[in-house]
Amino acid sequence: MSELSTNHVIGIKDLTAEDIHLIFETAENFKEVINRPIKKVPSLRDITVANLFFENSTRTRISFELAEKRLSADVVNFSASSSSVKKGETLLDTVNNILSMKVDMVVMRHPAPGAPKYLSQLIDANVINAGDGTHEHPTQALLDAFSMREQLGDLTGKKIAIFGDILHSRVALSNIFCLQKLGAYVKVCGPPTLIPKYIHRLGVGVEYDVRKTLEWCDVANILRIQLERQDIKYFPSLREYSQYFGINKKLLDSLDKEIVIMHPGPINRGVEITSDVADSEHSIILQQVENGVAVRMAILFLLAAKR
Ligand code: CP
Repeated sequence: MSELSTNHVIGIKDLTAEDIHLIFETAENFKEVINRPIKKVPSLRDITVANLFFENSTRTRISFELAEKRLSADVVNFSASSSSVKKGETLLDTVNNILSMKVDMVVMRHPAPGAPKYLSQLIDANVINAGDGTHEHPTQALLDAFSMREQLGDLTGKKIAIFGDILHSRVALSNIFCLQKLGAYVKVCGPPTLIPKYIHRLGVGVEYDVRKTLEWCDVANILRIQLERQDIKYFPSLREYSQYFGINKKLLDSLDKEIVIMHPGPINRGVEITSDVADSEHSIILQQVENGVAVRMAILFLLAAKR
């Protein structure tokens, strides 16, 4: 297969396993390119990409901008906090104004689940979801799985545990969909209040004991507690969360095995993960960030090829 089955990347749910493998193969080539002294290729010359961020971001935003610039695209950055959204302009009016300036592709982060899907049904540009509320964060899941493959090879039959605030996490949902399409086993682990009731319907295992889950898994993907999305108290205190669900070096050292440690960021050091784990030789957190650029270059390139 040489082209994606879709014109937009809204969620992993809409991608086929073939799409995911094509993105990985293309990303491997781009990873080689961005490690050369001259990191730029002309693949997206004459393509204009708008990065529309209605919610805060460090990694995803910089990663997309770098990916676009390394492909020689023209790049427009929009941040809701400094825009006319603050004066009451609607999402569609904002986007139509930007598109009338001849934008070909839109990368969008929005706090409302479904906002990128809504947009993709109304505009001609290709839309890439950079995280929509608690729904999906497809490019994060793709860079996570790409990074796991670098460590473990084919993910078929590999055991991946996702720890933490599953209830509020778009990364968890996209990871589950992506890893299952690649044949991996997925288990989630966290306080019962932060595990959604529908989780069994997704075909993943559920465990509330961190040690047992670590004993089971090849990879621990550790998520942060999303306090900004929590309107009620889901656990007594961060100190107690850290005590029962935090992952520290003493705990890992007490297991007779090596586990790949991952975190999508931003990290809350000392809450879900201690610094001696986040910065250990088992951690691939910064490789995830590096791979994010190559994976996003691959997605932009493959979508542009369909125009
Ligand atoms: N992983 C991730 O989405 O990080 P940002 O919120 O900084 O983009």
